Amino acid sequence: MVVGLVGSGNMATALARGWGEPVLCTDVVAERAQALAAATGGEAVASNAELAQRADLVMLCHKPYQLDEVAQQIGGNAKAIASILAGVTISRLESAYPGTPVMRLMPNTAVEVRRGVICYAPGNQMGEPLAAALLELLGRSGRVLAVEEPLIDVAMALISVAPAYIALIAEAWVDAVVARGMPADQASAMVAEAIAGSAELLSANDVDTLRTRRAVTTPGGVTAQGLDALERAGIRAAFRDAVDAVVDHVP
Ligand SMILES: NC(=O)c1ccc[n+]([C@@H]2O[C@H](COP(=O)([O-])OP(=O)(O)OC[C@H]3O[C@@H](n4cnc5c(N)ncnc54)[C@H](OP(=O)(O)O)[C@@H]3O)[C@@H](O)[C@H]2O)c1
Repeated sequence: MVVGLVGSGNMATALARGWGEPVLCTDVVAERAQALAAATGGEAVASNAELAQRADLVMLCHKPYQLDEVAQQIGGNAKAIASILAGVTISRLESAYPGTPVMRLMPNTAVEVRRGVICYAPGNQMGEPLAAALLELLGRSGRVLAVEEPLIDVAMALISVAPAYIALIAEAWVDAVVARGMPADQASAMVAEAIAGSAELLSANDVDTLRTRRAVTTPGGVTAQGLDALERAGIRAAFRDAVDAVVDHVP
């Protein structure tokens, strides 16, 4: 399947790197499209109309507010559309691209290292063979999960933001142990492995968070003290506020 990416920014680059396949791509800034084409062995194309003519599927990787402008540039040439645009519903996509099969996606940048999470909701006109080919491609860059369309915005508050949240948590954690005397390079080497290994352990425990916590929490011990400090600092309220901030401000 030849995929054409409209927009060669952060998310398009992460997706294409994860697939490891040549892509066709465009960007307002030609150098960005050329860099992405060079990274994938693909081709930077001169216009969105040409991209759509040559691709089996056009993936919208521009900003959400650019939907109608890009649809005009594509001018009815797309055979199928996949969109990663935050907050742009299937019905908005179908009215911007009438008669064209569409699929709505929500990825995160961890697709670049093939450990992404990608949620999807297909439109009614998306046929089985095309959907299967697209899901196979997406599956190369991570875990692919079907969700009801109204939950895609909520999924965004969990998966798309995750690399940024984990980076912030890692930074705060490193700063705290540096303050207690650990060299920063040692702390940095430990934090990513501690997070990755703990995520792996949680998966191995069927995401049973309580079982995983209890296995390392001796009553009255140091982990219990640390967890208590996080609860007192309002970690649950902070995550509730962060989810609300994303879902309530979807463009
Ligand atoms: N970044 C994430 O983690 C993430 C996660 C999930 C979903 N998304 C979605 O992914 C989309 C892209 O996000 P991003 O972070 O990758 O943004 P980005 O880095 O700004 O990339 C978007 C690119 O599209 C270009 N563009 C604008 N109009 C275009 C046109 N008519 N034809 C071709 N290219 C055009 C932009 O150029 P200009 O800058 O010159 O306009 C920019 O280079 C957004 O809709 C966002 O909601 C992002």
